[in-house]
Amino acid sequence: MRDATPGPVRDAKLLPARHSKALRAKPPGARSTVCRNGRASVSDAPAEISLNRPQRWISPGAGYHHPIRKRQSTAALQNVAELPRTMTRLRFGVRRCAAFHRACVMERAADLPTSGSMKDFRKMKQCGEKITALTAYDYPTARLLDESGIDIILVGDSVGMVVLGYEDTTDVTLDEMLHHTRAAARGVKQALLVADMPIHTYDTPEQALETARKFINAGAQAVKLEGGVDRVAQIEAITQAGIPFMAHIGMLPQTVREQGGYRIKGRTQSEVEALLADARTVEHAGAFSVVLEIVMADVAKQITSTIGIPTIGIGSGEHCDGQILVTHDLIGLFPWFTPKFVSPEARVAEEIRRASRAFIERTRGASGVGDLPVIPSGVEEPRSSN
Ligand code: KIV
Repeated sequence: MRDATPGPVRDAKLLPARHSKALRAKPPGARSTVCRNGRASVSDAPAEISLNRPQRWISPGAGYHHPIRKRQSTAALQNVAELPRTMTRLRFGVRRCAAFHRACVMERAADLPTSGSMKDFRKMKQCGEKITALTAYDYPTARLLDESGIDIILVGDSVGMVVLGYEDTTDVTLDEMLHHTRAAARGVKQALLVADMPIHTYDTPEQALETARKFINAGAQAVKLEGGVDRVAQIEAITQAGIPFMAHIGMLPQTVREQGGYRIKGRTQSEVEALLADARTVEHAGAFSVVLEIVMADVAKQITSTIGIPTIGIGSGEHCDGQILVTHDLIGLFPWFTPKFVSPEARVAEEIRRASRAFIERTRGASGVGDLPVIPSGVEEPRSSN
């Protein structure tokens, strides 16, 4: 486990951003932050400690970025109270920055060592670079998506329907989600791994934080839960502990039973207002992005242009900053139901059926013993996947 104890912190200096020499001269592992008002601050604390940055010290609407490294020490998330004095000094630097410059946008300097997984999603939004996200619940799928260059992999509680055979996500348990998160985490090197917090694991802020920490310990780098205004205390408990958080508003699958189905959101003026309030709230609570699930396309567009964090749409039209899909829908691996907004790119279920029939035929072949290839005796087949 990586030692998360912060190194010595130079008093965070405020430097004009054009002093790029100063930025370039910073020691390895140093972080710099650049404000929109053209001032930069440099500290030589290791990037990992930013996990402990309480979001309330950053002005509402300020950018939230994630200069943490993949597989960061989870100790950093648990020992906030025990952090040494140097940490307090760094916090003071960050707070001072936020206090002096309300519109401060913290950005990772381009020359910092990047984690690969923690992209600056807010910057991608600003540049119009679309964010891509897909679900994975196991090692091979996570690894294949990761190798394909996807930005975000979500261990979604949709696992309940497309893998576990439940009717909806409301039967998914925390243990099941942790199990799948651990499997997916083993396959991810580049993408940001986000884990879904299942229903009734975030009923209170304390429970939400405890659950979020379990997911970080299982290998997730961020967590997601459903809700906006009604969940602000839970979201703040998570973000103020420094855990990256993805919000989810619009149609909330964990409420499907109360709602009586998967209904599009944003049809009425009151729904539009509620969605806008949710979006603003989750941004201010420190979310780094927000999933918009089956929201009217024009409302998704309005939300996208209103908030500073990226919107990741699912069935919410083309104007979101990114798109997410359940991988089983995308590749045609759950043929019994495909949402209307999905155009599958493959027919994997058909391939499985075809291969399975071929195997049955070969096994029951004309000779009676089948014609499957036989490994010569004494030859061991290696099982390594690397
Ligand atoms: O559970 C899930 O897969 C999700 C996405 C579809 C957004 O929440």
